[in-house]
Amino acid sequence: MNGQADAIDYQAHRDFFREVLQEVHDIMAARYDTREVKITPLGMGGSRLSIPIRVDGVNSKGEKVRFFAKILGSSELMTARTIQLFKNIFLHTISKDPLFDLNATAEHMAKHQYDLLNQIHELKIPTARPLGYHPLKGNLWLLVEEYLNARPINMSKDMTESHLETGFTYLAKMHKNGIYHGDIKPENILFAEKVYIMDVGNFTDAAPAGEKMAYDLACMIASFLDYAPPERIVALALKHFSKKDVRHATEYIELIQRRPDINFSNATKEMLISLMLGSGKKGKETD
Ligand SMILES: Nc1ncnc2c1ncn2[C@@H]1O[C@H](COP(=O)(O)OP(=O)(O)O)[C@@H](O)[C@H]1O
Ligand SMILES: [Mg+2]
Repeated sequence: MNGQADAIDYQAHRDFFREVLQEVHDIMAARYDTREVKITPLGMGGSRLSIPIRVDGVNSKGEKVRFFAKILGSSELMTARTIQLFKNIFLHTISKDPLFDLNATAEHMAKHQYDLLNQIHELKIPTARPLGYHPLKGNLWLLVEEYLNARPINMSKDMTESHLETGFTYLAKMHKNGIYHGDIKPENILFAEKVYIMDVGNFTDAAPAGEKMAYDLACMIASFLDYAPPERIVALALKHFSKKDVRHATEYIELIQRRPDINFSNATKEMLISLMLGSGKKGKETD
């Protein structure tokens, strides 16, 4: 290996990094009236699909302001594509059509997230208000959102049954309004007194509404397994979804168990599926 070439490479990376940070400072000043910007990277979870950061600064009135932002780029796109492809291949093996779409560019990913968060916010479902998305060097994009003082539910154990039910009411409201999430998981549900629905995924345009509903519902039921026994979670789901919907959602439980970010045992899976299939006398009869 040529040591000098290596050294030049590292310098290029450092320069690139500095320039991107400078761009973030410039965007915050020009678009968000925010100066004296301090950027703090937030924790990197297992299946992170962006570089999440907290942006602190001061506005022109001298007030302290804080934003959440995430940097999206080609490596995040590739990770997302791998995950989407894996899920589609798994669906193929159980003779189901592909459901999950691939983002062509980081710009598309930023725009998609901005648009869906905006729609969720307009329904008055707690989420972060998206504020804008902006190009950076090297095909990176910066998505800026309202900062929420809340943590993912897998990091806060204070969820009660009433919060879980609230989660189902939000999902049912989204579906009633034609909005499908596509990536419900514990990391994407934030909690601090309120339940916040965050970080949407990407269904194909051709995916039938019934399949998208069933996948979202299965993801939410599975995401809540750490907070209540399966029979309670299924009972809460049945307060807001029909028996038919809950039965349909069983078709996705196997796929969800293979996700690295929602964990439950085979025994729990079997019990969950049988509860969802047999799902009881209390559910709504129709859609
Ligand atoms: N608006 C926000 N305010 C504060 N923290 C947030 C906000 N949005 C996300 N987070 C935190 O950052 C993490 C990553 O954000 P997320 O939108 O899920 O990005 P990714 O696409 O990388 O999964 C979340 O799991 C959550 O802990
Ligand atoms: Mg996320």
